[in-house]
Amino acid sequence: MEYKTDILTGVRPTGGLTVANYLGAVNVVKNFQDKGRSTLLFAADLHALTDREPSQIKNNSIEVVADYLALGINPLKTKIFLQSAIMGETASLMALLARHTTVAELLRVPTLKEKLKNSANPENANALLLFYPVLMAADILLQKAKQVPVGEDQLVHLEVTRRLAEKFNKSYGEVFALPQPLKIKSLRILSLKGEGKMSKTNPNGAIFLTDSPKEIEKKIKAAETAFEGKMNEKLESHILIAKGLAGNKDEILEIDNIVKEHLSGKAVMGKFKQEMIKITQNFIAGFQEKRNKIFKDPDYINSVIEEGNKIAKTNAQETLDSAKKALGL
Ligand code: TRP
Repeated sequence: MEYKTDILTGVRPTGGLTVANYLGAVNVVKNFQDKGRSTLLFAADLHALTDREPSQIKNNSIEVVADYLALGINPLKTKIFLQSAIMGETASLMALLARHTTVAELLRVPTLKEKLKNSANPENANALLLFYPVLMAADILLQKAKQVPVGEDQLVHLEVTRRLAEKFNKSYGEVFALPQPLKIKSLRILSLKGEGKMSKTNPNGAIFLTDSPKEIEKKIKAAETAFEGKMNEKLESHILIAKGLAGNKDEILEIDNIVKEHLSGKAVMGKFKQEMIKITQNFIAGFQEKRNKIFKDPDYINSVIEEGNKIAKTNAQETLDSAKKALGL
């Protein structure tokens, strides 16, 4: 079966990107872009319906698109669409695929188990959560994606996708192209406060792309580092952030030099933080300037999304049509 999309990736529009999201997810897409790979990127606004109100999602989706554009995603190379623009096709295929799995199988998906563990009344969790991987399979199969870059936790969903596609193909003919997972090695960017990974659920330990210079300074100043001469996970994470956000080679060299001094036993963590603050403030100021410019021109964002939507819609209609034909519907 032929592929229609080289690389497909979806982001849940949950609002408020952190520097960890930039250094992880956004950079992955940027690297493909730099390598000349054609990528289709979408805001997974239907997936967001599992735990958010629709009224929040629309704005978050536009914001996530603006964020990605301001962070260097080039719409001439990477096409961007909204999942809800192909809602009919997506929901239809989800239904056609769902009969190829069982309730028991879906209940065994670890991401669901994790979610249910955290909810007070698992029996009251909304049923769309159960369908999360089937919805994701519909996204991927509709676009006939060849490779799907995902973090470790999403690999199971790719397995579900492949299994559904294989079962359908075996019963009704070769309709779906089997996607290959591209496992992304996740960066160990930790909370500045030492509460595990940096995440928007612990805002004091996270640097948001919307933070002011003052907030950035305050957060970094309060961050834990390492004793002179020692390296630890926290300092490693700070170094990843500083070097990842650095605007030029000199800044990277400066960080390397300070770290060398630190490892030789000198008390230079104050100097390190000053440099990290400067680098982070500059990066975020540059980002906010670009983002503001993009926001002043809603026609621009809309035209980017319209173009992506058209591509996604054409692919989706073709795939859904061939699936229906195979089923005799
Ligand atoms: N579930 C993914 C996440 O939480 C987002 C997503 C939805 C996705 N549909 C997708 C990713 C299709 C890749 C392909 O990160």
